[in-house]
This record gives sequence, structure tokens and C-alpha cells, in this order.
Amino acid sequence: MNNSMPTTDVVYQPAEDSYLLQEYVKEYAFGRVLDMGTGSGIQALTALKRTNVKEVVAVDIDEEAVRRLQQGIKEQRLRKIKVIKSDLFDRVEGHFNLIIFNPPYLPKDDVDKEFSLTLSGGKKGNEIIERFLKEAKKHLNENGKILIVFSNLTGKEKVDNIIKKNGFKFQQIDYQKLEMFEELYVYEVY
Ligand SMILES: C[S@@+](CC[C@H](N)C(=O)[O-])C[C@H]1O[C@@H](n2cnc3c(N)ncnc32)[C@H](O)[C@@H]1O
Repeated sequence: MNNSMPTTDVVYQPAEDSYLLQEYVKEYAFGRVLDMGTGSGIQALTALKRTNVKEVVAVDIDEEAVRRLQQGIKEQRLRKIKVIKSDLFDRVEGHFNLIIFNPPYLPKDDVDKEFSLTLSGGKKGNEIIERFLKEAKKHLNENGKILIVFSNLTGKEKVDNIIKKNGFKFQQIDYQKLEMFEELYVYEVY
């Protein structure tokens, strides 16, 4: 996630973190899939292309992201996908085989105010991840998995502890070094 990225769009446009996570969505998606914080819909639409995916639910708190994705789905007459405006799981029902999350994960002070909804994960950067993991278990199938991406600026050790504290195990499945000392991690959480 590059806070200095040249975009004036309020909806998060796919960046390094999106493309890194997308590779694993292609591999892991099956059955019912939830894309939390869908933004442009890149992860949800990638999952939808997998033949073994039955349904995709795409969620975002941002009305404009939801509106644009709904419009795109209508125009392309896509089936098996629905978009919900929700603060994390507030309006999400049911269980999923895979939950994908590219969260806002930067500390608040590292982010320009206008991008705070898409980029800032709270004061320390990991607060949204913490809220997400507290609720995620209730929405996973028995062998369901979570795919999540975050950066060293989120605080890797803190994220590891939050995962364990919420009764999950995890495996780091990818890593990418970005410019300016930022590093990305992709985790499988189960
Ligand atoms: C970093 S962007 C990721 C967008 C897209 N999934 C991708 O991979 O490019 C984070 C997204 O999470 C959404 N978001 C932020 N807080 C949220 C919340 N509490 N509940 C649901 N979505 C949220 C933002 O609006 C934004 O679209």
C-alpha cells in the first residue's frame, strides 16, 4: 500500500498489495467466498472466475465503492455475486469457505486525511484487523480459511499476537519488499 500513490480516486485502486493477494485468491477460492473491504472488487471478481466458487459476497463500508461495483456487476450481467454495504460483519450473514481481506492497515498518522477510510487501520494501524479477527470465526465454515495482507508498518508481531489471541493459527505464504522500507506479508489464517 503506497500512501503517496498518484490517485485522486476515493475508491482504492488496485496496488501492490491487491495484486499480491490476488495471486492467492486464484489458488484458495472455492465454495462461498467473502471479500471484506472489496474496494474496486478486484478480489471478489477474481474469485468469481473460479469454476468451483458457488457464491461471492463483496462487502465495503464505503457507499461509493459499493455503488460502483454494483453498477459494474449489473452492466456485465454477472451472477453469483452480491455487494453489501457493511461495517465489517455487521450486515453479513452465513458462513464462508474463504474470507479475503486487504484491510486498511497503515497507522493513522501515516495517512493523508482524505484517504483515511481506505488506508488507515486506526491509530496503530492494526485496530481494524483486530475487530475483523474477533468476528471472523463466526463466519467461517469448519475448514474455512482467511487470506489477509498487511505491512510491516501495521506491526507484524502485534498482528501475529492478535491472530493467536483470537484462537487462530497462521502461515506466512508470501512476502514482498516495496520502496521506502515498506514490506508486505500475506497470511493464510485458519
Ligand atoms: C486497502 S483497500 C482494499 C481494496 C481491495 N480489496 C483491494 O484488494 O484492492 C481497503 C478497503 O476496505 C474498506 N473498509 C475500510 N473500513 C472498512 C470497514 N470497517 N468495513 C468494511 N470495509 C471497510 C475501504 O473502504 C477499502 O475499500
